[in-house]
Amino acid sequence: MLLQLLSVLWEALSLQVVLVFLATFLLIADYKKQIRPRNYPPGPRPLPFLGSTLHLDFKKPQISARKLAEKYGNVFGLQTGNIKIVVVNGLHLVKEALVHQGEYFVDRPKSPVLDKIFGSLGLVFSNGLIWKHQRRFALTTLRNFGLGKRSLEERIQEESRYLKEAIEAEKGQPFDPHFQINNAVSNIICSITFGDRFEYHDSRFQKLLHLLDEALLLQGSVWSMMYDLFPYVMKYLPGPHHTLFKKWGQLKSFVRGIIEKHKEDWNPSEPRDFIDAYLNEMAKEDSASNFHEENLLHSALDLFLAGTETTSTTLRWGLLYMAIYPDIQAKVQAEIDSVIGQSRQPAMDDRDRIISNIIPLNVPRLTTKDCTLAGFHIPKDTILLTNLTSLLFDEDEWETPNVFNPGHFLENGQFRKREAFLPFSAGKRACLGEQLARTELFIFFTALIQKFTFQAPKNETLSREFRIGLTVSPLPYRICAFSR
Ligand code: HEM
Repeated sequence: MLLQLLSVLWEALSLQVVLVFLATFLLIADYKKQIRPRNYPPGPRPLPFLGSTLHLDFKKPQISARKLAEKYGNVFGLQTGNIKIVVVNGLHLVKEALVHQGEYFVDRPKSPVLDKIFGSLGLVFSNGLIWKHQRRFALTTLRNFGLGKRSLEERIQEESRYLKEAIEAEKGQPFDPHFQINNAVSNIICSITFGDRFEYHDSRFQKLLHLLDEALLLQGSVWSMMYDLFPYVMKYLPGPHHTLFKKWGQLKSFVRGIIEKHKEDWNPSEPRDFIDAYLNEMAKEDSASNFHEENLLHSALDLFLAGTETTSTTLRWGLLYMAIYPDIQAKVQAEIDSVIGQSRQPAMDDRDRIISNIIPLNVPRLTTKDCTLAGFHIPKDTILLTNLTSLLFDEDEWETPNVFNPGHFLENGQFRKREAFLPFSAGKRACLGEQLARTELFIFFTALIQKFTFQAPKNETLSREFRIGLTVSPLPYRICAFSR
């Protein structure tokens, strides 16, 4: 009896000993991984296993980054296990990293979620030679298909007529403009990439736009973050992260279907769009080996997602702000009336500026070599977040950094370029679609404000609250559009 009791006690004890030993071992291993390199930028103390990334609130990253910068300075470091993240704030240092030392920070970091969806292919998440070749090809092809030319401007003017008709059909009743704007904007990049635009009532395309919207929102969610931190566990747990991968799978199938159709009626001597031009490149004997069908799929998908979500979100913010600030809307309309009038379509020669900052911490970069920034040591393979929003609150740069004040961009009634306004980022890896986006934003926005006055529905208050996905977008809102 006594022997039995002793053996049970021993077993229980040995289990406890093993567990304590294991926990100590994991803690020490984690502690060793969290040791900061010498002269690493200061930052909050990492917690065991979770590290310090939780100090960056992923629902409002630009706000927590601002608070951390106030505490630790314009360059601060976060760390989770082996993953090091450095956040850079303020115009001077952001330009130092992106432009002057650009070659050290040109790569994109990998993550389990990104790997599963994009692999190392396409334009946005590729690195090295693949990125160089795909980017150069995409830029040349976009130019060949109209970027910076009258023909593209006319295409956008035509699309803005369809958008105005769709909004007019709402007859001044409250409506959510989200997917009409999405469809109009997406049609521009779709006609360059896929050779076609889609009707606003095409249910298949509407479903696709909803898919894209949901996938990008899920990608910014806590589920995606958990998958990145604990991929081997999350893989087996149920949750919305599986929905995220499923939605991306459906988006890829859509693009794959379009590529297959192109292959059926492809005529190498008459490329109609990006896909045809890519098929031509693949067929060349001397083309680089990374021009293959999977890269075509990913480059086309990247153009579609980057060219839809960003510009459409900016336009939705634009209309929301016009409705919230009727006096500013009236001034914008007065200016449109005097420069363009009521009958003519806006054209790029009438250009003004309406862009806001919708990718607050920029798309992440990864250091390619050990380097020094602001006197701090940044080791190779550190994730670099350049806080583009911090530039907009820089008191040295703006007269009223905390107020919505389009006057920041005006001087004696003329447009004034501002250095601290970098929504498309800067340097070698800056936005590839900047020129296209600026043309679209100007023509769509001006055409809408020329034709309609936007107002909050009766007894409803419009909110400036936002949600985070790939971009910072307004919460769904309803608005009334009255013809002028
Ligand atoms: C308001 C509209 C837009 C904004 C604010 C915006 C902003 C950005 C930003 C901040 C980046 C990351 C740059 C960096 O890492 O330094 C980026 C990358 C990119 N953008 Fe845009 N973008 C817009 C519209 C577009 C459009 C219309 C296209 C379509 C052609 C596009 C295509 C891309 C691509 C392909 C990249 C990846 C570039 C690379 O990694 O080399 N963007 N964009």
